[in-house]
Amino acid sequence: MLKKPGAIIFDLDGVLTDTSEYHYQAWKHLADDEGIPFTHEENDEHLRGVSRRESLMYIIRGRQYSEDQIQEMMDRKNNYYHELISHMSPNDLVPGGRALLQDIRDAGIKVAIGSGSKNCRMVLDLLQITDLLDGIADGNSVVNGKPAPDLFVYAAGLVNVPVAECLGVEDADAGIEAIKSAGMQLWLLAHKSVSTEQIRLCQHSQICTCKIYSTSS
Ligand code: BG6
Ligand code: MG
Repeated sequence: MLKKPGAIIFDLDGVLTDTSEYHYQAWKHLADDEGIPFTHEENDEHLRGVSRRESLMYIIRGRQYSEDQIQEMMDRKNNYYHELISHMSPNDLVPGGRALLQDIRDAGIKVAIGSGSKNCRMVLDLLQITDLLDGIADGNSVVNGKPAPDLFVYAAGLVNVPVAECLGVEDADAGIEAIKSAGMQLWLLAHKSVSTEQIRLCQHSQICTCKIYSTSS
């Protein structure tokens, strides 16, 4: 049974907005440039919630690139991603998202973001929800990204709520692991059928299997 939390810490990409699809399209563009096979299924299986560098390492695995080339490819992917998100607006927020965040605040619960993205603040501004947030932990906040607990622990610190009183909301395996290791309650938003591994990780947690918006997977 879920206890009333002192803070709710939301992942951003794939939870409050469908930017996961834009991350996929930007990586796909890069993979096509480089002649590397890369599918939507691989993206959903291996890249959701994973940092920019780790995502690239998965895509180029087994191929030799210098650090300069790796850096250039990460920058190129980020430029493609910027092009894709440049048209985002409050309409790209999950339906009912603004009202949900407002209701949580009205209930006296802090609202924070725990996102591994360095583009997090830009996306929050495009969605026009920055004013509803008590804290933002993003890809620039900690050294060790998800699945390490650091990002969620940092977010809890920003809103001054003990981790045991926080609820984390996630769509990706790396994030589920991060929330569980941080010692928080977990709410999983599942985009596809829930795997046995996820059920194991999610014990004593809430699993929401209804799609809150459509994804192409
Ligand atoms: C996560 C996304 O939120 O941020 C990943 O789920 C993405 O797909 C990661 O790779 C890093 O994002 P960015 O914007 O810093 O490249
Ligand atoms: Mg996510």
